[in-house]
Amino acid sequence: MGEMPKNFVKELAFTPEVARATREAYAKVAHVIPEVEWAVHAPYVAEINRLKKEKNAVILAHNYMTPEIFYCVSDFRGDSLQLAREAAKTDAQVIIQAGVHFMAETSKILSPEKTVLIPDTRAGCSLAASITGADIRLLKQKYPGLPVVSYVNTSADVKAESDVCCTSSNAVAVVEDIAREKGVDTVIMTPDEYLAQNVAKQTAIKIITWKGHCEVHERFTAEEIRHYRAANPGVVVLAHPECPPDVVAEADFSGSTSAMIGYVGNHRPKRVVMVTECSMSDNVAQQYPDVEFVRPCNLCPHMKRITLPQILHALETMTYEVLVDPVIAERAKAAVERMLAVKIPAAAAAKAA
Ligand code: 13P
Ligand code: SF4
Repeated sequence: MGEMPKNFVKELAFTPEVARATREAYAKVAHVIPEVEWAVHAPYVAEINRLKKEKNAVILAHNYMTPEIFYCVSDFRGDSLQLAREAAKTDAQVIIQAGVHFMAETSKILSPEKTVLIPDTRAGCSLAASITGADIRLLKQKYPGLPVVSYVNTSADVKAESDVCCTSSNAVAVVEDIAREKGVDTVIMTPDEYLAQNVAKQTAIKIITWKGHCEVHERFTAEEIRHYRAANPGVVVLAHPECPPDVVAEADFSGSTSAMIGYVGNHRPKRVVMVTECSMSDNVAQQYPDVEFVRPCNLCPHMKRITLPQILHALETMTYEVLVDPVIAERAKAAVERMLAVKIPAAAAAKAA
């Protein structure tokens, strides 16, 4: 994928035309972005939206993107599963992944004929970095006959060696589906140890785990959650299943990033704490201004590599293209498509902790 990218900043002026052209966009983020800050974002928003049309590109934005990206330049927003589904069906010739590298690779695997760009190649993931294809081959030797379920937060190599992928929104359904299909009562689940342990609590299938962790979610502690409850009476606690099981046990609800957003929309709690990456609360606060957000968030340094200047640079230069070896891509695609074919029972899609 070439050389290390820089942090690109282009001098763009906040002119009266830009202010006019971006008035509607600003209305989408006015609750969480002050006007003085908008003057910095607006010229990029205008230019990105113009270039996107010219280049027949779509921007897929993960729920952890900052609000000016999430609401003002993206064409599709969602959790890992929703973004994978969208990548499989978009007609656009160019996909810009406003997310991390494994997401861009998944898009390329599903749409090999398209140009997939990641605005910053440094946007990695501690989970994806915790395991290789060779590790999966060794696990299969150690546990012959057991299927391997790999989190979508993995490299194409790892996906290629796995029977099926999963995300946080379909993990229980995928584990049960592959166990039924292979006629086994145990599966190997990599690389997120905590996600695997949280899934194991919701199914009779036994799970062999790997010791990978999300560097953002592993930092939350059960004690911290108890402290937030004590300091904010009545607060509803939502936790991502990448958190350690004792943290999830303290929560009122656990689910994927989109499932957490859905919970706020459906229940409209007065006060909520989202035990996950920081930008989630900003994005949901914009959508539900009547809800008060307590914010003990942790930043994902990888997600935060993606900025408006980096996205503009990606569009202007058509970089950085994400390529996957076609032989690996073909095998990885089978694991991703097998996941996409699994039906998620409503109860499993958003299970209370
Ligand atoms: P979901 O958006 O699928 O819940 O996953 C979160 C994540 O790991 C993104 O980094
Ligand atoms: Fe990876 Fe965690 Fe960042 Fe998601 S939040 S990209 S799982 S390090």
